[in-house]
Amino acid sequence: MKVNNLITIDGVSGVGKGTLAKSLALELSYNILDSGNLYRLVGLISKRISSENSNKIQKELESKTVTMKLHDPEKLVEVFYGTENVTEELRTEEVAMLASFLAKHISIREILKKYQRDYFDSEVGLVADGRDMGTMIFPQAKWKFFLTASLEERAKRRFEQLKEIGLEVNMPTLVDNIRKRDKLDTKRDISPAVPAEDALTIDTSDLSAGELKNRVLKIIRT
Ligand code: DC
Repeated sequence: MKVNNLITIDGVSGVGKGTLAKSLALELSYNILDSGNLYRLVGLISKRISSENSNKIQKELESKTVTMKLHDPEKLVEVFYGTENVTEELRTEEVAMLASFLAKHISIREILKKYQRDYFDSEVGLVADGRDMGTMIFPQAKWKFFLTASLEERAKRRFEQLKEIGLEVNMPTLVDNIRKRDKLDTKRDISPAVPAEDALTIDTSDLSAGELKNRVLKIIRT
């Protein structure tokens, strides 16, 4: 049985998943799960404890509660690890690369599976964005979207996002990082970023955030 108030948005980095997820969650009053943030948190923990051992990472992760808050579609989903606001630290390229590297491991994916599924409350509804939301985490979702966009457009968007929060990066490094992460995210054996069989693929290269949101809302409402 497909679940009506569950929307999954998957795709590689910079295709507009996060922006779409935030605007849909606010519009529909659903909860939001930015699963990339959980992988980034695992990356941050690994950096802090200087270890890639999944048992050690799990112990650290479970020692504090993780909360995500969304107030404003223009702003990042805020992430609290215990009482510490780690939102901006999670956005660094170093943490993103570590997240992508650790995400290849089944042990890490298994740890995060439960965290992710716990976000769905059938009374409220959920918009979940990531790489494998429609394939592995919420196969029962009625609405599954897979977003794509050209590499050039994605690099431009990521550059603007990082600049906005005051992080310095140069374009060639950014393009190189995106290529590397694409390879890690799409070619890995477990839960690669591929569309679910029943997902609708949308190329967002020439769509504004508003146009994309309206297109998706129209599909859900008709
Ligand atoms: O969406 P993001 O860029 O914040 O995600 C960071 C990394 O986490 C990404 O490179 C791959 C990994 N990830 C994943 O493997 N599965 C998910 N559902 C979400 C993210």
